[in-house]
Amino acid sequence: MRTPRSFRTSALSLVAAGALTASVLVGGGGSPAVAAASPDLSVTNVTAHLQQLQSIATATGGNRATGRPGYKASLDWVKAKLDAAGYTTTVQSFSTSSGTSYNLVADWPGGDPEHVVMTGAHLDSVAAGPGINDNGTGSAAVLEAALAWAASGNSARNHLRFAWWGAEEQGLLGSNTYMSLLPTADKDRIDLYLNFDMVGSPNPGYFVYDDNAVGNFARDAMTSYYTSKGIPWEYIDVQGRSDHASFRSYGIATTGMYSGGETTKTSAQAQKWGGTAGQQFDPCYHRSCDTISNIDTTALDRNLDMIGHMVWRYADHDFGGTTPPTTPPAGGNLLTNPGFESGATGWAGTAGPITNNTGRPARTGSWKAWLGGNGSTSTETISQQVTIPSTATAASLAYWIRTDTAESGSTAYDTLKVQVVSGTTTTTLRTFSNVGANATYTQASHSLLAYKGKTVTVKFLMTEDSSLQTSFVLDDTSVTTS
Ligand code: PHE
Ligand code: ZN
Ligand code: ZN
Repeated sequence: MRTPRSFRTSALSLVAAGALTASVLVGGGGSPAVAAASPDLSVTNVTAHLQQLQSIATATGGNRATGRPGYKASLDWVKAKLDAAGYTTTVQSFSTSSGTSYNLVADWPGGDPEHVVMTGAHLDSVAAGPGINDNGTGSAAVLEAALAWAASGNSARNHLRFAWWGAEEQGLLGSNTYMSLLPTADKDRIDLYLNFDMVGSPNPGYFVYDDNAVGNFARDAMTSYYTSKGIPWEYIDVQGRSDHASFRSYGIATTGMYSGGETTKTSAQAQKWGGTAGQQFDPCYHRSCDTISNIDTTALDRNLDMIGHMVWRYADHDFGGTTPPTTPPAGGNLLTNPGFESGATGWAGTAGPITNNTGRPARTGSWKAWLGGNGSTSTETISQQVTIPSTATAASLAYWIRTDTAESGSTAYDTLKVQVVSGTTTTTLRTFSNVGANATYTQASHSLLAYKGKTVTVKFLMTEDSSLQTSFVLDDTSVTTS
């Protein structure tokens, strides 16, 4: 007996797997505390990070340049700090004429994946020296902001991502590579990119990037912050001289801060900022003397707090579009449209299975996911992304399933796999088949606690062979945590 495919053709059309996400998301930081407007970040910690970068350079030939051992050692050290703090880190390698280089990208679990706020700094130095102001300062300040966010227990409305770029000194190669390889959909998810390249120059100025492609909201937030602290600032047109350039050309809002390099401080600038008129903002710019001694700690401290302010502020900014993610009450269902009563809403996968066709009963309501039942070679999936809070002490996927089949015997011809996809790893939690088909709805559940702090995809994957239908009907799904 075969059930023709047309028997249950549905008008629903589902988009490609992965394109939809649950609208209920939680910040990975744990407590739902609202982010403070201006955290006071530790310049002592940043100075320790700079000492670490200096030690790496000293131990590896005096620099941290592309293709030299000091670069990879710097990256490994930053990565280990982020991993220990709970970030999901990714290393992207690429080749340059000076040798292999690497970008380090760190994602804080949680926040709305459709709204990404990104903060970056280049981690490489020139070959001439250890690159402590250029750009140990930006690298260490962004690292400290990321670590402080992890430690804060705040949950972010938006998704926070941090990046340390390779081979900026070779011509923005790392950030250009990242953007050129990032799928368009992921580029479109980035609402803001903040860049920090030299933030502790020894004869400092306070230059705010004013070469934005779209809107000045972040530039204005930065200048308002400086003004509120009584710190004079000037605009600078960075002219594509740092890693925000590829974000800016794509049309992403950007801004950044620069404390000055090879150009000379005027007397008007020395009057408002102090320091030495007629001298370069950084006399050791791109030189061997750009060491741990080549820093103005006051500028570093002020700019660190500015970076903290920007990250905290934009973590919670409303970029529009979707319902704000909220921390669900303990015991709440993290799945969107778990009983399919809103059709395909919230679910990705194959067109058709989510249906109110009466050929099979729903457990509750009238809609269900009817996978299989074709009696011909076929594969169908439905899936949904969900974030398991990092603070969960229990997490469970549950669903009701009813199966009926035209097959007989003890060979599994038709199967439904219940799977969790985490990064590139797919784990099958359970396989149902025609063997033991049961036309009474029963509930099954599996722990998802192994995925706490992660955003995973819950997936139901059906495969049928060439003849004799098996229908796997799902209803009333849930992911709950406590
Ligand atoms: N990108 C330059 C470097 O790393 C520094 C710079 C930053 C210059 C911002 C202008 C504006 O050498
Ligand atoms: Zn430089
Ligand atoms: Zn630089």
